[in-house]
Amino acid sequence: MMLTLIYLHVLLLSYLPTKKNKRIKEINQEVETILRQMIEQREKAILKGENTSNDLLGILLQSNIRESQEGGTKNAMTTEDVIDECKLFYIAGHETTTASLTWALILLSMHPEWQERAREEVVNLFGNSKPDYEGLSHLKIVSIQSFLQ
Ligand code: HEM
Repeated sequence: MMLTLIYLHVLLLSYLPTKKNKRIKEINQEVETILRQMIEQREKAILKGENTSNDLLGILLQSNIRESQEGGTKNAMTTEDVIDECKLFYIAGHETTTASLTWALILLSMHPEWQERAREEVVNLFGNSKPDYEGLSHLKIVSIQSFLQ
C-alpha cells in the first residue's frame, strides 16, 4: 500500500512541467532518436545482406528479422522493444560496472599488498604491450573469481 502510494506520487511528479522533467524528456528523446537511427541502419544493412558487425545488437536484429520472416510480425520485437532492450542493457551494464570498479579500487587501496600482486601479474603477462582479450583470460589475481573471494 505504502509502496503504491510512493509510486503514484513519483509518477504524478514526473508529469509536472518542471525544468528538470523537461530536460529528462529531452534527453530521453535524444537517446531514442540515436538508437532508432542505429537500429534502422543496421536492419537495412542486414536485409541487404551486408556484412554487419557481429555484436549483440547485430545478433538481436538478425534473430528478430528471421523471426518476423518466419512467424510474421506477431512474434517479432518492434523497434520500440529493441530501443528498450538497448536502454536496459546500457544502464544495467553501466551501473554495475561502475560500482564494481569503484569497489575494486576501494579494496585495493585498503590492501596495498594485493595492489602489488595485481600489478606484478599484469606486468609479467603483458609487459609494456596493450592488454588483449586472450591475455586477459589468463589473469588469475586480476579476475572476477579472485574479486568475489
Ligand atoms: C557486478 C555485475 C553485475 C551484477 C551483480 C548483475 C546482477 C543482475 C541481476 C541480479 C539481475 C536480475 C536477474 C533476474 O531478473 O533474475 C540482472 C539483470 C540484468 N543484467 Fe546484470 N549484473 C551485473 C552486470 C551486468 C552487465 C555488465 C550487464 C550488461 C553489459 C548486465 C545486464 C543485465 C540485463 C540486460 C539484465 C536484465 C535481464 C532480463 O531481461 O531479465 N548486467 N543483473
